[in-house]
Amino acid sequence: MGGVRGHRIFAGFYDRLNAAAERGFLGKRREALLHGLTGTVCDIGAGTGANLPYLRSAERIVAVEPDPAMRARLARRAPATSVPVEIAEASAEALPFADASADAVVFTLVLCTVPDPDAALAEARRVLRDDGKLVLLEHVRGTGRLARGQDLVTPVWKVFGAGCHPNRDTLGTLRRHGEFELDEVEEFSEIPRWVPVSPMIQVTARPVS
Ligand SMILES: C[S@@+](CC[C@H](N)C(=O)[O-])C[C@H]1O[C@@H](n2cnc3c(N)ncnc32)[C@H](O)[C@@H]1O
Repeated sequence: MGGVRGHRIFAGFYDRLNAAAERGFLGKRREALLHGLTGTVCDIGAGTGANLPYLRSAERIVAVEPDPAMRARLARRAPATSVPVEIAEASAEALPFADASADAVVFTLVLCTVPDPDAALAEARRVLRDDGKLVLLEHVRGTGRLARGQDLVTPVWKVFGAGCHPNRDTLGTLRRHGEFELDEVEEFSEIPRWVPVSPMIQVTARPVS
């Protein structure tokens, strides 16, 4: 992982960039998805640690973050968390954990950025126990004109957004993946529909047995 390029400027702005959305709706969504997760919880692409305060029922949080600039902020936030946090320098596509070692795997605003979402989901399934839980909060591809607009802006957006693709069909990827049964799927939009990251999904799923 030594070669991963850090996004120092993006990391520096990230919390301020999201502050209004966190107060407006993201915080409530994180709370609804995360507050009940117990046992060992893997927060993949943990960023600056926005999920940590909501994971208060976990026994242990393993926060996976490949970007050194994000990881530095995560490390500063972790000690204030009421649950023990271990930080792993790793990528979603190659998790350094044993099979069936996690009770829950969390992706929030991450599958838009990981280079290989299919491999990330396969790794999530591998590390999850059979009775484990997958939770996702992601912005996704829209339809019609919005999707065409997302395709147009993606080449520039990913440069300024540290690799973020606004046009990813993450729900389609999850459905096609086939290793998860989707229990709850909510598609929603809390910000104006012309904004490339406005369509979002909130999902809870479990491994197909
Ligand atoms: C938009 S931030 C989201 C951070 C946090 N999950 C949140 O909800 O605020 C996306 C994060 O995914 C991380 N990331 C990028 N590629 C990744 C990969 N291959 N595996 C795991 N995390 C990755 C980035 O470094 C960044 O911290």
